[in-house]
Amino acid sequence: MKSQGITGNFPDANVDALAVVVFKDEKPAEGILSELNQLTGGQIASVIDSGEFKGETGESQLIRFAPQGKSKANRLLLIGGGDRSEYKPANVAIAAGTAARTFRQSNAKSVALAPRLDGDAAEIAQNAMQGVITSQFELDKYKTKDKNDKALNSFALYIEGAKPADIKNGLARGQAIGESVNFTRELANEPPNILHPTEMARRAQEMAKEVGLKCEILDEARMEKLGMGSLLSVSKGSEQPAKLIVLRYTPAGKTNGKGGDLLALVGKGITFDTGGISIKPAEGMEAMKYDMSGGAAVIGTMRAIALLKPSIPVLGVVAAVENMPGGAASRPSDVVTASNGKTVEILNTDAEGRLVLADAVAYAEKQGATRIVDMATLTGAVIVALGDINTGIMGNDQELVDQIIECGKEAGENYWQLPVSKDYSKMIKSDIADVKNIGPRGKAGTIIGAVFIQEFVDKAKWAHLDIAGTAWADAAKPHQSKGPTGVAVKTLLKLVDRLQ
Ligand code: BES
Ligand code: ZN
Ligand code: ZN
Repeated sequence: MKSQGITGNFPDANVDALAVVVFKDEKPAEGILSELNQLTGGQIASVIDSGEFKGETGESQLIRFAPQGKSKANRLLLIGGGDRSEYKPANVAIAAGTAARTFRQSNAKSVALAPRLDGDAAEIAQNAMQGVITSQFELDKYKTKDKNDKALNSFALYIEGAKPADIKNGLARGQAIGESVNFTRELANEPPNILHPTEMARRAQEMAKEVGLKCEILDEARMEKLGMGSLLSVSKGSEQPAKLIVLRYTPAGKTNGKGGDLLALVGKGITFDTGGISIKPAEGMEAMKYDMSGGAAVIGTMRAIALLKPSIPVLGVVAAVENMPGGAASRPSDVVTASNGKTVEILNTDAEGRLVLADAVAYAEKQGATRIVDMATLTGAVIVALGDINTGIMGNDQELVDQIIECGKEAGENYWQLPVSKDYSKMIKSDIADVKNIGPRGKAGTIIGAVFIQEFVDKAKWAHLDIAGTAWADAAKPHQSKGPTGVAVKTLLKLVDRLQ
């Protein structure tokens, strides 16, 4: 998609459609709102005065008018900005997405937005473009008819007093990030007969080649040699061989970060989770194609990192495995040995995410990771606790957890911390092995998942993101389709920015 900063007057922008943010209790008394009110023959004042449009977040109002002057624009979207004091760059992404999605529906090809936020123009432009790109994602890849054939071709952004170079820079970064979020969403949306571990690895490899990342795929024989008995126990019941996808970003001229620091992003890539021998009920099982969303977030984040070129190295590790109940599948009561030497009693084969992550985080640390962030659709319990509003976050290092929560706020993604402690770790002590893969029924399910993974982290600072509730949206929003959300990608990119 083409994008540009507007240098002239906003109401004169020669586009099909205009969009502007209007705050709560605002009147079109001066500046750009007053100009647009004139352009539309007083319609802004009238929808506000009548109470039709209040400027709350999530609200929008379409106004049609006769084109005037040199511009061909004949419609204006008012987008509720809510309280002006709480309005941030992340809200600009939502406003831009709302405008782009609404206008594409009405066959507009070009859209101009005035987000009306003062501050870092590059940051604002980045958020706007991100919102535009992610708003265009659709679920219709496999439809042969009724496909969405409407496309927006260009986006123009108006930021008063901004340097054109800052806007240009921000728009380009926003495009890279938005497309990477969509890349993650595309992977998560693929049906599991098409996206099995081998295909997930192939897509990662193809992407790596395109953007210039190193990519190594470890097959089962390699993983066997490395002693990854925990990960491999999950793939035994499947015809599809497991793959460990390893992506490496190294900044030009460097091999290590500050003081030898290395950030690792580790993802659960269960391409389908039947539950294995502890099989899931038929109803709702189809949702489990998204059980590789953590892995997809790692791959999408690494893509964006390759394009944005931060100054620190980043390692991406994805455990791509299918959890099936084949004849060779793990049984409840099996004992396996992970690559760090710990033994695990498998008491429920449906708690497979932690089994594959155990070997994946241990591998990341062996590769020199000093900080590990893992992400996984790990537990149903996190959905009960936090719904689809907050991602659950836990970790062994409060500073890292706080940094991620802060980055989430900037990125417009919400995190809520749950505790981990020795008392919880005691709950996974096994009678016959070092640990068992479940705790007592109905107790602290999300935390139990986290403390299990913690057993396989040695000295690294570690945070675990349980994205089971936030990786999939059951309903469409004005700024994005329903389905895979690509959650965590934007937060992790902020984290990389902060650590460099
Ligand atoms: N992939 C699921 C988590 C999940 C469940 C996500 C439901 C979304 C909706 C995970 O592998 C799983 O099955 N977890 C079990 C763990 C339990 C057996 C301790 C769960 O949450 O029920
Ligand atoms: Zn499971
Ligand atoms: Zn799972």
